[in-house]
Amino acid sequence: MNDKQKVAVHAAQLIQNDMIVGLGTGSTANYFIEELARKQQQSLHVQCVASSIISTIKAQELGLPVVSIEHISRLDIYVDGADEVTNDKILLKGRGYDLVKEKLLAKASDKFLVLVDKTKLVSYIGQNYPIPVEVMPFAWKLVLASIEKVGGQAQLRANSAGDGLAISSHGSLVLDARFPDTIGASELNHVLSSIPGVVEHGIFESLATTVFVADNGHITEM
Ligand code: A5P
Repeated sequence: MNDKQKVAVHAAQLIQNDMIVGLGTGSTANYFIEELARKQQQSLHVQCVASSIISTIKAQELGLPVVSIEHISRLDIYVDGADEVTNDKILLKGRGYDLVKEKLLAKASDKFLVLVDKTKLVSYIGQNYPIPVEVMPFAWKLVLASIEKVGGQAQLRANSAGDGLAISSHGSLVLDARFPDTIGASELNHVLSSIPGVVEHGIFESLATTVFVADNGHITEM
């Protein structure tokens, strides 16, 4: 079992009967979905809500009941991976295309469990990845100008073939932004949330309840 799988199996043990469980997106979240489905076959009863179409499909294929995000006003627990995690549990997410739903579920959940291996631990947000900023398509240039005004740089994310632009599940364009490391994550969170035309961005502050970190088979809790 690799570290991502190990931490996912660990988190699945915390799921109780009749919970509404939010399913994240990515390879770690996939391991969690698989383990949840296995537990369901052994009589665990849950309802799921997924942060992406790909996770919805995976969960349904494994027999998990999935309700649409439009039908819930809260959930018990949301379980997802992250791209970066700081000591004070600020996260960077959104390397995929499902940032908006991921943040909605994280916010609406009583508990948000974050599952990472130790490669995701960083001393500042933006250390390993640019910060994804989802923008309304017509607003991208004005948002870019606002990012540059505070010392950042950004470029529109290309699609995987490199012959067009990436479109998020929400229908937005994505600016991948970098900022000088003198600007802290809290300040960036505030700055990005205040720019008109920004739909959502990848800094998740004060949302994670617990971060489980797997390191060579050992799991610690932040
Ligand atoms: C998806 O948009 C991201 O926020 C993922 O949660 C993140 O990329 C983690 O992915 P892995 O579990 O595949 O590392």
